[in-house]
Amino acid sequence: MKKLCIFIALMLLTSTSYANRQLAVRNGCMGCHADTEYDAPSWPKLAAKYERYRGQADAARLQGEKLIKGKAFKSIKAHRKLTPTNATDLMQWIIDGSD
Ligand code: HEC
Repeated sequence: MKKLCIFIALMLLTSTSYANRQLAVRNGCMGCHADTEYDAPSWPKLAAKYERYRGQADAARLQGEKLIKGKAFKSIKAHRKLTPTNATDLMQWIIDGSD
């Protein structure tokens, strides 16, 4: 029984991570962050930066809001047009390691 629970938990974990990667694809995040041609930080780099928020309630939502707003002079269209829900989900995915 215990083994089965672990198996189900793993399945859930990987499918959430897959769904969020698809969300990143659909929102055009890959064009910059999965391609080293542009000077956008790679997913592993972002995951390392945001790792410190892991386990903090509300961190994904707050960081998502920040991403949408962008910093002065560095406002990126793909960041700005995210919905708050998608931004939260994507930030959670990054915080969790962006696998
Ligand atoms: C046009 C290229 C481009 C696209 C498309 C893009 N980004 Fe970015 N992103 C950048 C660049 C360049 C930076 C680094 C500059 C900065 O920190 O603002 C960045 C920074 C970030 C950061 C770190 C922000 C910080 O200050 O810590 C996150 C998180 C991020 N992007 C997530 C995403 C997500 C999620 C998507 C998809 C909705 C996405 N990006 C789409 C270019 C892009």
